[in-house]
Amino acid sequence: MSTVPLIPETAPFTAEQRAWLNGFLAGIFSRSAASNVGRPLADAPVLAPLTILYGTQTGTAESLAKQAAKEAGKRGFAATVLDMAEVSADQLPNHANLLLITSTYGEGEPPDAAKPLHSALSNGSAPSLSSLRYSVCALGDTNYTLFCQAGKDFDAHLEKLGATRITPRTDCDVDYEEPFTVWLDTALSALGSASGAGASLATSTTSAEPAVESYSKKNPYSAPVLTVRNLNAPGSAKEVNHVEFDLTGSGLVYEAGDALGVIPQNCADLVSAVIQALGCDGEEAVPTPVGELPLRTALTQHYDLGKPAPALLELLNVAGSVSAPTTPHVLDALLAAATKPAPGAFVGALKKIQPRLYSISSSPKAHPDQVHLTVGAVRYELNGLPRKGVCSTFLAERALAHGTAAVYVHSNKAFRPPADPTAPMIMVGPGTGIAPFRAFLEERAATAAPGKNWLFFGDQRASTDFLYRDELTALQASGVLTRLDLAFSRDQKEKIYVQNRMLENAAELYAWLEAGACFYVCGDASRMAKDVDVALHQVVELAGKKSPEEAAAYIQSLKTTKRYQRDVY
Ligand SMILES: Cc1cc2nc3c(=O)[nH]c(=O)nc-3n(C[C@H](O)[C@H](O)[C@H](O)COP(=O)(O)OP(=O)(O)OC[C@H]3O[C@@H](n4cnc5c(N)ncnc54)[C@H](O)[C@@H]3O)c2cc1C
Ligand SMILES: NC(=O)c1ccc[n+]([C@@H]2O[C@H](COP(=O)([O-])OP(=O)(O)OC[C@H]3O[C@@H](n4cnc5c(N)ncnc54)[C@H](OP(=O)(O)O)[C@@H]3O)[C@@H](O)[C@H]2O)c1
Ligand SMILES: Cc1cc2nc3c(=O)[nH]c(=O)nc-3n(C[C@H](O)[C@H](O)[C@H](O)COP(=O)(O)O)c2cc1C
Repeated sequence: MSTVPLIPETAPFTAEQRAWLNGFLAGIFSRSAASNVGRPLADAPVLAPLTILYGTQTGTAESLAKQAAKEAGKRGFAATVLDMAEVSADQLPNHANLLLITSTYGEGEPPDAAKPLHSALSNGSAPSLSSLRYSVCALGDTNYTLFCQAGKDFDAHLEKLGATRITPRTDCDVDYEEPFTVWLDTALSALGSASGAGASLATSTTSAEPAVESYSKKNPYSAPVLTVRNLNAPGSAKEVNHVEFDLTGSGLVYEAGDALGVIPQNCADLVSAVIQALGCDGEEAVPTPVGELPLRTALTQHYDLGKPAPALLELLNVAGSVSAPTTPHVLDALLAAATKPAPGAFVGALKKIQPRLYSISSSPKAHPDQVHLTVGAVRYELNGLPRKGVCSTFLAERALAHGTAAVYVHSNKAFRPPADPTAPMIMVGPGTGIAPFRAFLEERAATAAPGKNWLFFGDQRASTDFLYRDELTALQASGVLTRLDLAFSRDQKEKIYVQNRMLENAAELYAWLEAGACFYVCGDASRMAKDVDVALHQVVELAGKKSPEEAAAYIQSLKTTKRYQRDVY
């Protein structure tokens, strides 16, 4: 937690000097890990206290919490931004005004760091919160069944514990900027009138993107594509591409652990099939978020042709005929429709194309002015037709020829190599989960960090799927990679996975943890990350001679001290 002092009006400066100093101080403090905006210097008016609590897995809620703090500071609040990992339920009665921003992960679960507070608020152990005023902003994605569930839970638990909901919860879908801005404005106004803050300072407008960043999700950088290289050998059942972008002159900066947002373009063949199914020629002018464009351009650049929105199924009157057992795509729905809509009405019922996040696989220290990704191409069959993941195949097939791709940096402060260069690092990253660990290892090499490094990697077959084999072997030879344990699942009759290797090496793994190692997991969330978590508990039980409860407490303390971090998808 850090503090951003505001120069009070009573200080001996002109208004211009004060504005400059406030901007200067805000600039300095906005670069710190967390913010405390608006605390006055001595003799300044007392500001209304406000706590902004965030729960995040990949950094969005944290970044919005910091924007909320800046806005609250302008409106006369002394805002403190806190990660849910830093707050216990017992401490909540000490807070008068609370804005809570959280995402949802897993199957309707809170982010990892928010889980202890979530369970403390729900298990009957939390104190009364009758003096707390609050509002919740929930981040989620309507593609998941339990949309914004963690935010809904926090909202319900706070109410049940006697806290006063000052404005209704807002549930944000992937386009969270506008609803977040409206929620923040409404919640700050309500808290302001209840606490006396905000009256004289409520003159600013909010922006859902950090002011210091010139390129962002809303204003992506058109990055030249330097390389797209298949990392699998011929005969592989997988297709993972190493992709390099040039950032020269962009001013974009990132750290190992961050993700890159990529805004894809739809495949020309799919766009043509949709245009044909509509009975159009593609030249028809249709509305888009950036103004009227020909239908073909609009469908290529602006609209999602994947899973249709309920509005499209209604427009096409096919809601019953194209539902389960398999999720249809926009083209399936269109082909099933008895009558075809006008192109304008059709695009009006489509969702906007969304960026995809990729864990960055380069360290900026090893590759100045470049950013690298490790992208698994998504290809499958549905209803007898071949289908392609939009972004992964845009990068695999078209980005290089296209020349550029629209990208932005998605900061993830919750996933970083150890701050202490001497701390050991254990990384579990099968498949594309290797991505951030290539960056972590490059970072450790570039900074000559003396800490030991242990990587568990796995994929289907050693001969075709040993991603970055040459680089990893060289890192082993140079001593940067202390241990490399491999699990090729299909090289033998029975499956061998990374968690099998963890268990085989339980004593040494536990010894590394006891020596202060940080434990990292990246890759598949639905199966691998869960099984690795189970295996970690077993390692601590077996090698640490602990009961299941003691092992769970040991692992919880790794999480609390940020020594167990996950980047899973
Ligand atoms: C923080 C984060 C980091 C990530 N890092 C990486 C990374 O480093 N590397 C990487 O490759 N990916 C990564 N991903 C995943 C990435 O963002 C995309 O989700 C992935 O590339 C697929 O996007 P797409 O546009 O190609 O596919 P989409 O067009 O989004 O299609 C994917 C959808 O297709 C459907 N689908 C897929 N397979 C099947 C099937 N067999 N049968 C039926 N339906 C199916 C599912 O509905 C699935 O959701 C990350 C995700 C997150 C959130
Ligand atoms: N949510 C999203 O947006 C999104 C989008 C794209 C991909 N994904 C996920 O990302 C994953 C990454 O794909 P990838 O191709 O890089 O790797 P992957 O499918 O995770 O495969 C890598 C290795 O992990 C093995 N594996 C399978 N199940 C496992 C388990 N329960 N525990 C440990 N290892 C296991 C695989 O073995 P076998 O194959 O031999 O079983 C393979 O050897 C995909 O599985 C997919 O679920 C998510
Ligand atoms: C693996 C995974 C699981 C998710 N599960 C859910 C979910 O169950 N419900 C939901 O509404 N959103 C879900 N989301 C969407 C996130 O909540 C959403 O992207 C959010 O903006 C992320 O915010 P964060 O960066 O602060 O963690 C999921 C996202 C991922 C990658």
